[in-house]
Amino acid sequence: DRYQLWGGCFEEEPSAVLRRLNDSLAVDSRLYREDIRGSQAWAKELHRSGHLSNEDHQAIQDGLAKVEKDIEEELTNHGRLSDPEEDIHSAVERRLHAHIGDSALRLHTARSRNDQSATDTRLWMLASIQRLHSSLVELVTVLVKRAQREMDIIAPGYTHLQRAQPIRWSHFLLSHTWPLHDDFLRLEEQRSRLSRSPLGSGAIAGCALPIDRTRLAKDMGFEDITPNSMFAVSSRDHIVEFLNWASLCSLHLSRLAEDLIIYSSQEFGFVRFSDQFSTGSSLMPQKRNPDGLELVRGAAGLMLGTSMAFSCILKGLPSTYNKDLQSDKELLFRSYDKLLDCLKVVTGSIDTMEVNADRALRSLEPGMLATDLAHALVRRGVPFRRAHHLVGAALRRAAALQLDLQTMPHCEYVAICPEFGTEEELRAVFSWEASVEQYTSAGGTSRSAVQNQLDDLNRWIQQY
Ligand code: ARG
Repeated sequence: DRYQLWGGCFEEEPSAVLRRLNDSLAVDSRLYREDIRGSQAWAKELHRSGHLSNEDHQAIQDGLAKVEKDIEEELTNHGRLSDPEEDIHSAVERRLHAHIGDSALRLHTARSRNDQSATDTRLWMLASIQRLHSSLVELVTVLVKRAQREMDIIAPGYTHLQRAQPIRWSHFLLSHTWPLHDDFLRLEEQRSRLSRSPLGSGAIAGCALPIDRTRLAKDMGFEDITPNSMFAVSSRDHIVEFLNWASLCSLHLSRLAEDLIIYSSQEFGFVRFSDQFSTGSSLMPQKRNPDGLELVRGAAGLMLGTSMAFSCILKGLPSTYNKDLQSDKELLFRSYDKLLDCLKVVTGSIDTMEVNADRALRSLEPGMLATDLAHALVRRGVPFRRAHHLVGAALRRAAALQLDLQTMPHCEYVAICPEFGTEEELRAVFSWEASVEQYTSAGGTSRSAVQNQLDDLNRWIQQY
């Protein structure tokens, strides 16, 4: 029979369809460890405050340990719990009762599922965020490792997807690394707000028994307690923060994925993904598709939708607990799982891809040095705006002659403006290496400026 935590004043059972909509065990069984940890801490406080005898307390502690082992085994073997109960809180209490008998009936003293489930979720998040932290550091490490190794590769840099200026490939890789570094910090910044224990808030009003909420919080590993019992059972701001964060992080992965997808096309051919991170076509035998990164790109939409969905659920809710809040866990787990997989797929794709330095180099064309040519004029005293127009004129002239900036003869330049300098000075501009090496200012694409970024990131990685 189904063990129900309520129903004393009911004459009829809930309808099957309500049960189906209401039951959350399939989702919240994932919180069993946190639920049991919270119950153990709660029992300890009840005992200290004189509301549990030594015997009952001992029975509850031993019984909860057994329940944890049983559930762990069942989840390992079957992937789900087959308990008839509506949620993990009821299932744990029924299982405890089966082990220790009526001592179990004292565990829920002065507690509500409202503070209990809020506590479980926060505990779960505190533990799980660690895994996201590690995955982010792994991805940053892979990017930094490649950037260090591929410092010599020079590739086209694009704005508006039009060839812009030559850049170091490493500079491109690091341009996607810094947002992920910031994501790590952003996640860290949420921790102090997340790490507040709601337990002892009851259903809404607080706890009428003399329990020490701060001691209880520390016992569960929280830094602090929530400061208001109604706020405690009402607020899901930490989940909103997390979902918004996950959405931003997945957006960063999506943009990185998109660049690499384009670069893996035959038209670019800068990268080739390993077999492990490519898929084929059922019809076209020659295809190698970057499905992994496309899924990452798509997942960003899913995560943005999820964070939006949850804010929509919260908007306009009356104070404190309403059952609408139950979907918090479904959305939280969905975003969390998806993001973790995405981080790993991006890490694996980048770690195992091949970069074709030659293709990157051959995609550069002299027009991409037009800016450098203008700067050469500026160094000879020409005002930049005039230099810009003069190089524009050179481009026009070269096109008319069906040449490019590099193949156009020196005399054509001098005819436009003598400040283009000697033939030798002019030719010196047409070096990809010399071009990128001019950009030595902090954050630029020269070797030393990229190396500084790498040193900063390496120092940061060392901390973790
Ligand atoms: N399963 C519920 C949730 O996760 C637990 C809280 C239920 N409280 C209640 N009063 N029905 O939101």
